[in-house]
Amino acid sequence: MENLVVLTGAGISAESGIKTFREMGGLWEEYDVMEVASPQAWEKNPELVMRFYNERRKKLLEALPNEGHRGLVELEKYFNVQIVTQNVDDLHERAGSKNILHLHGELKKARSTSDSNLIYEIDGWELKLGDTCEKGSQLRPHIVWFGETVPKISEAAIICEKADIMVVIGTSLNVYPAAGLLDYAPHGTPIYLIDPNDVGTKNNNITFIKEKAGTGVQQLFNILKEKYSFND
Ligand code: OAD
Repeated sequence: MENLVVLTGAGISAESGIKTFREMGGLWEEYDVMEVASPQAWEKNPELVMRFYNERRKKLLEALPNEGHRGLVELEKYFNVQIVTQNVDDLHERAGSKNILHLHGELKKARSTSDSNLIYEIDGWELKLGDTCEKGSQLRPHIVWFGETVPKISEAAIICEKADIMVVIGTSLNVYPAAGLLDYAPHGTPIYLIDPNDVGTKNNNITFIKEKAGTGVQQLFNILKEKYSFND
């Protein structure tokens, strides 16, 4: 089976009611990213940072996977699908996708501030100041903040190097190193980009599917079905 690597961003979860970041009405219009999603913010005002992520977690618990997430699960019948997501939600997991790499962390997890290997599931929506790891250190959201390194980027690059087909869904490709992952796909790899808006990218070989994720993944399915001659 061909390796189909899918890079997803906030847009794939938009139809589930999760806000994107950079659009009108997006999260970074409402909040200053450096005030809620940076190590400096955690240092200066941990209450605000906790509140921001608790709020996001509450919303996530009410959300459900959409057609876009589910369509990617369907593709597993015909391709070896690997998802590399910038999203911190668990909607790919809940839709049933098997191979998911979270580049920017996971909202439903907390990790120790003294030992980054100590990672825990958060029960419910709330993480509090005073919640500690087994060594007694404060827990923080398991999120890659601005200015922090992206520990899984090498793993993601290796996945992209093995891609036969790349799919990009719902990301403005503004944030590096994630946006640079397309460059790791072997030269000539077909790239399908699903987004209802224009996304600037210098890569060649891109087929744009200018649709929302739900419709776009369905169109992608039909294109691939034709090209790789499989029957659903
Ligand atoms: P952005 O908010 O930058 O981009 C969202 C993209 O989704 C835009 O290109 C939209 O046009 C598109 N979009 C909107 N609705 C859609 C729909 N229904 N279907 C498909 N696409 C849709 O979000 P990201 O590119 O994911 O990092 O942002 C990257 C990172 O920046 C995030 O992971 C986050 C943020 O700061 C951290 O928090 C560490």
